[in-house]
Amino acid sequence: MDKIRERINDLILKINQASYEYYVNDNPTITDQEYDDYYNELLKLENKYPELKREDSPTLRVGGQVVDKFEKVTHESPMLSFDDIFNEDEIVLFDERIRKTCPNASYTLEPKMDGLSGSLVYEKGVLVRAATRGDGLIGENITHNVKTIKSVPLKLSKPIDIEVRGEIYMSKKSFEKCNIERKQNGENLFANPRNAAAGSVRQLDSSVAAKRGLDFMAYFLPNPDKYGIKTQSETIDFLKELGFATNHKLNGIAKNVNDIINYIDDLSQKRDNLPFEIDGVVLKVNSLDDEAKLGFTQRVPRWGIAYKFPALEVLTTLKEIKFTVGRTGKITPNAIFDPVHVAGSVVSKATLHNEDYCIDKDVRVGDVISIRKAGDVIPEVVEVKKERRKGDEVPFKMTENCPMCGSLLVKQDANYFCRNDSCPAREIEGLIHFASRDTMNIDGLGERIIEDFYNMEFIKDISDIYKLENHKEDLIELEGFGDKSVNNLLESIENSKTNSLEKVLFALGIRHVGKKTAKILARKYKTIDNLINASEEELTNVNDIGEIIAKSVKAYFSDIKNINLINELKDLGLNFKYISTSVNDKLEGQTFVLTGTLEKYKREELTKILEDNGAKVTSSVTKKTSGVIVGDKPGSKYDKALKLGITIYNEEDIANIIN
Ligand code: IVH
Repeated sequence: MDKIRERINDLILKINQASYEYYVNDNPTITDQEYDDYYNELLKLENKYPELKREDSPTLRVGGQVVDKFEKVTHESPMLSFDDIFNEDEIVLFDERIRKTCPNASYTLEPKMDGLSGSLVYEKGVLVRAATRGDGLIGENITHNVKTIKSVPLKLSKPIDIEVRGEIYMSKKSFEKCNIERKQNGENLFANPRNAAAGSVRQLDSSVAAKRGLDFMAYFLPNPDKYGIKTQSETIDFLKELGFATNHKLNGIAKNVNDIINYIDDLSQKRDNLPFEIDGVVLKVNSLDDEAKLGFTQRVPRWGIAYKFPALEVLTTLKEIKFTVGRTGKITPNAIFDPVHVAGSVVSKATLHNEDYCIDKDVRVGDVISIRKAGDVIPEVVEVKKERRKGDEVPFKMTENCPMCGSLLVKQDANYFCRNDSCPAREIEGLIHFASRDTMNIDGLGERIIEDFYNMEFIKDISDIYKLENHKEDLIELEGFGDKSVNNLLESIENSKTNSLEKVLFALGIRHVGKKTAKILARKYKTIDNLINASEEELTNVNDIGEIIAKSVKAYFSDIKNINLINELKDLGLNFKYISTSVNDKLEGQTFVLTGTLEKYKREELTKILEDNGAKVTSSVTKKTSGVIVGDKPGSKYDKALKLGITIYNEEDIANIIN
């Protein structure tokens, strides 16, 4: 009998060692055949001598154990989670808060695993209980399922009593495999690995979890001092020593905010290539003495925080569809919903573009919708989750009247317009456009203030902005204003008078004259008077100015109201001349194409430099292309340029021309 017990012990040792190397270290040490032989021998012995079967036997991992309900488990100490933060400013605030108590703190930085947290209790080194977080105080007993997780040691390298916390998760590979199988079986697919992991641990029959290939990453000890541990990094080392999978290779240390930001950038780059999903970075004060000093608030630890990567797409419920009027009178339906974090900022409104978009998507108030940042700023509604409808959602109906002035709307192509020139919404939007960053850049004259000033009749039209000085005393009295902010505002209004022609041209809101067109016109005509006097034909001959723009520019300057406005602005001291900022105008009117990997500049950077110097950057090579700028491993554009005999430049050449 002793011989058999010895053999069983020996087999378990071999199997555990092999599993550890395979599942934790990702470093197989024996062949599958050898593993199967050991395993089958162990199974045979356990069947023959059930009294010798050990409670930490790896044969327990196959699953098959069925519980009739999930027992409640009270956690020895509450299983808390951290507060979430979403941007650099919040990182700075966190660091400042920490440094008030611990001026010399350093942090450990860890990938924020996207699974569900679990607590594993070992007695004398043997796994005796595993539980979910539950409400933090009471969780559910999922020992039968956790025992099937290959990266969970059933027995530790030391015979100690310990509670270990970490993340139960599903790797990207297991997730894919799991969904392929579900598809074949006609079952609903899991939306993401986190849901799949959560669904798997909440199974009464452990053979389901066993099949799904879950994993466990250890990252936290509730009582580290019991083991003489002084820092969070030592905790990770200790967990590793005990036989757990840890993220020791990916974790980092930060001494300051800069280090934290670099780590986040770096991990974001690696994110797609990691074998598991992460949704952010967990920051923990490294020294456990510091941790104790910082302690907890009512809800969360003060010594750590979870930075969440910007979600690119999030779900929310559509509460209302609100129509807004743009400065051209265009009516846009907007989705209004509870504030959500998307791509680094909080949004509560997203565009639904126009009637067709709403009808195509069949959006209904009450629907669950997904929101995404389109381009880089304006959020839009991407998808309607029709499968989540309850039946009481209200279908979309396009409005017939301007939501601001009530005028009957006019339909043109896919859009509806308010044609009332003195519609307050249009006037306000026009003023907002005039003062905004890309146009006159008047600091302190944002949307809210323009709306207030409009309603209080301080600003009714553009010229009133430059007469605001006359209301200085009244403004100082307004709530939220004071001497200083009024002076700052008046100063930025004064500064805006010296803007170059293209700014004010764009700011005036001439139809079809955007930022780029304004620049082309300003460069070409140099003064507003030259532009006013240009004929439609002349305008059409300017590179990149088509008939539509030419007509619109001509129409704008043919309206006496507009000429009066320009004259009034001139009298108020506004500049209407082009001020060249180019280092030189050598590239004026030239068109470039970029290809290959650039070294010296980022693509956007070089594009901007070229544009600032008068050139245009396009994406395809034609006979009209003036030059192709070639980086490393250029694509087919390079071949085409050679074929067409177009001048080839490298980055150096361009730098030389510009400088
Ligand atoms: S430490 C007191 N470390 O993210 C909190 N948590 O709020 C102790 N998570 O619910 C947890 N990766 O489930 C910690 N490396 C990591 C983590 C991590 C993911 C989860 C955890 C918790 C939430 C943090």
